[in-house]
Amino acid sequence: MARQHFDPMGSTAVITGASSGLGVAFAHEFARRGADLVLVARRQERLEALAVDLAERYGAESTVIPMDLTRQGAVDELVGDIERRGIRVGSLVNNAGFASYGRFGEIDGDRMHQEVELNVAALTMLSRGLWGALTAHCRTSPGNGALVNVASTVAFQPVPFMGVYAASKAYVLSLTEALWYEAKGTGLKVTALCPGPTATEFTEVAGNGELFFKNPQTAEQVIDTAFRALDARSTPPSIVSGAGNAAGASLVGLVPKRSLLTALGRATTPGRRR
Ligand SMILES: NC(=O)c1ccc[n+]([C@@H]2O[C@H](COP(=O)([O-])OP(=O)(O)OC[C@H]3O[C@@H](n4cnc5c(N)ncnc54)[C@H](OP(=O)(O)O)[C@@H]3O)[C@@H](O)[C@H]2O)c1
Repeated sequence: MARQHFDPMGSTAVITGASSGLGVAFAHEFARRGADLVLVARRQERLEALAVDLAERYGAESTVIPMDLTRQGAVDELVGDIERRGIRVGSLVNNAGFASYGRFGEIDGDRMHQEVELNVAALTMLSRGLWGALTAHCRTSPGNGALVNVASTVAFQPVPFMGVYAASKAYVLSLTEALWYEAKGTGLKVTALCPGPTATEFTEVAGNGELFFKNPQTAEQVIDTAFRALDARSTPPSIVSGAGNAAGASLVGLVPKRSLLTALGRATTPGRRR
């Protein structure tokens, strides 16, 4: 078997959005590989149930921090809380995120603001808040830690009627690829994970069920992609999950923008008969 270059054994991974979907699957894989966890999301009961499960299955220790990351000051509180508890963070997975589907002028303004706060601001400032700890940890233990920011295949093109979400994920992709370079020489692995449609609570939250995605991936398939990227000797700046999604992402830049937007807009128009 090929040597695995990512071994978080004995370190602690902070995972945001750990109450559902990809966050739960990330937590399982980190715990299975011997890491302890800091689990962050708003739904405390879910996090506590996950912590019990991870302890029983893998002997992992979890710190549950229920928190709305869009609240002003929340990220600073989280970083302060982690420091106060003396947790030595090796990895950060910025996974919490959500989408809004609909006509730009009709999406609730507060919700749109929260979407930007969570997908963009909280991800940025948590990466910044833990950057020193992550890089210091990996300088002494290279390959023991990672920064994974969850983007999306929508990061590769604008998406009408999900414009804010797609733009937020384009930001995540761009920032993370830049950080990949800045982390060189520190031993910290950095990558942007770009899933396509995946069976989680995402669609229910976004309200875009009418778009009906055929053959979504499972959360476990996406996490397998993420860890294959981390296990590589040279982790790529970004990774698309699923061969079909990867092919689509690589072709999208070849299509003239006007044609792309027209095709995408037709496919995503709310209330359109499909
Ligand atoms: N599923 C897909 O098709 C897909 C495709 C591409 C990318 N993604 C990305 O994958 C990531 C994970 O999404 P998922 O598919 O696993 O969806 P999900 O099942 O809806 O999980 C989203 C997670 O984010 C947390 N969250 C939402 N708002 C939060 C807030 N204000 N503060 C703290 N945590 C918050 C939720 O927890 P609480 O509600 O308990 O706070 C939940 O744990 C997201 O960044 C999403 O954009 C998903």
